[in-house]
Amino acid sequence: MAEWVDTGALADLTRKGRRVVKIGGKQILLIESGGRVFACNNRCPHEGYPLSEGTLGTACTLTCNWHNWKFDLASGDTLVGGDRLRQYPVEIREGHVWIDVSQPPSDALKERALANLAEAADDNDYERMAREVARYLKSEGDALEPLRQAVARSAARFEYGMTHAYAAAADWLALADSAQTREERLAALVEPLAHIAWDTLREAEYPFTNEAIAWDGDAFAACIEAEDEAGAIGRLNGALVQGARLLPEIRRALGRAALAHYQDFGHSAIYVRKGFELIERLGAVAAGPVLRALTRSVIYATREDRIPEFRHYAKALAAWGAGAAGNATAPAVFVGLSVNAALDRVVAMPGDSVDKYRTLLEANARAMLRFDTAVDAHTAKPVSHNVRWLDFTHALTFANAVRVDLRRAARSVAASASAACLFSGAQCTICACGGGWGLGGPRC
Ligand code: FES
Repeated sequence: MAEWVDTGALADLTRKGRRVVKIGGKQILLIESGGRVFACNNRCPHEGYPLSEGTLGTACTLTCNWHNWKFDLASGDTLVGGDRLRQYPVEIREGHVWIDVSQPPSDALKERALANLAEAADDNDYERMAREVARYLKSEGDALEPLRQAVARSAARFEYGMTHAYAAAADWLALADSAQTREERLAALVEPLAHIAWDTLREAEYPFTNEAIAWDGDAFAACIEAEDEAGAIGRLNGALVQGARLLPEIRRALGRAALAHYQDFGHSAIYVRKGFELIERLGAVAAGPVLRALTRSVIYATREDRIPEFRHYAKALAAWGAGAAGNATAPAVFVGLSVNAALDRVVAMPGDSVDKYRTLLEANARAMLRFDTAVDAHTAKPVSHNVRWLDFTHALTFANAVRVDLRRAARSVAASASAACLFSGAQCTICACGGGWGLGGPRC
């Protein structure tokens, strides 16, 4: 409903050219120019400096002199800069200037903030993204909606599928939940949006097939193995038309596919975990875009087990079993081993998969303790000496992804072939990624 307020005599405004009035805690700038009267927020939408200090140019263009943003008061457009300037309807009644200060409906404000946010993301304008999210939240919008929309808009713009932008998003949301201040919360909500915007900046659409083929987990995994995106996405679409019912099966199939190779230095398995965590956060509406981007990333991930350094992975995977009888292997045994020797060692270790997992994790922790971070700066060493701090931290992230997926697999399909496959694949990958590789380096 309109809320008209008398802001004073027109003659006074005409004489002075501009004046600021305070209404309901807001500063509103009135400007008279060429017989027309305009009313707008006095705080510049950029960083809040007073527009009353701005310069009025020809054609009703108001320039904020702090950073040169320009606003067309007649059309309401922002000519230079990003955010729109809030303007107010004006009426002249009996020589007085009246303005309507009613707030637009909350839904309209939210819709505008989301539209502006999309524009800011396309421009990779971090600060504007933050402002638009703040405006959206101020209008009591659902804090997850901007990310839902960003995911929906971006999924097909990752040429090779999901990146860290999706993988880290659920963690940013967790940080937002535990934020102590509004500013911290805002930062945690904006970071994933900015990361998505950066990773998709100026990217075209790489459309997914719309075809839906009846779901079959084995066929889905086979398509991933064959790098057949249309076949894999078609089957994924076939599962998704059934709603969330098949999500656990899709997760297991992607988990198996992610571990079928030592690939992308463990990122595929990490992405599977983080992708589903993101879906849990955002709700089933995000399942389609996240899973399509995730599947594409698993398909196109580099299979490092095909390069000489890690070629032993497949053999070790095939030989995976209970291991020989004997005493437990001490984590220190892995110190100084090559990747191949570490893989052989882990296959031959006594004990079950959990024992091996713990041993490798401890070996990785010991290697982290002994790692000389100056090695990170080396640029003229052979690739086999290329061990970095990131290798150790990735081993931990990867191990955690395996731990979480194993727990799920054990809960839902205890002792099934799927769980066993996931489990055995995981151990070998840990060895090659964090344990074997890091420990095999000469500095360890
Ligand atoms: S505060 Fe107005 S342009 Fe920056």
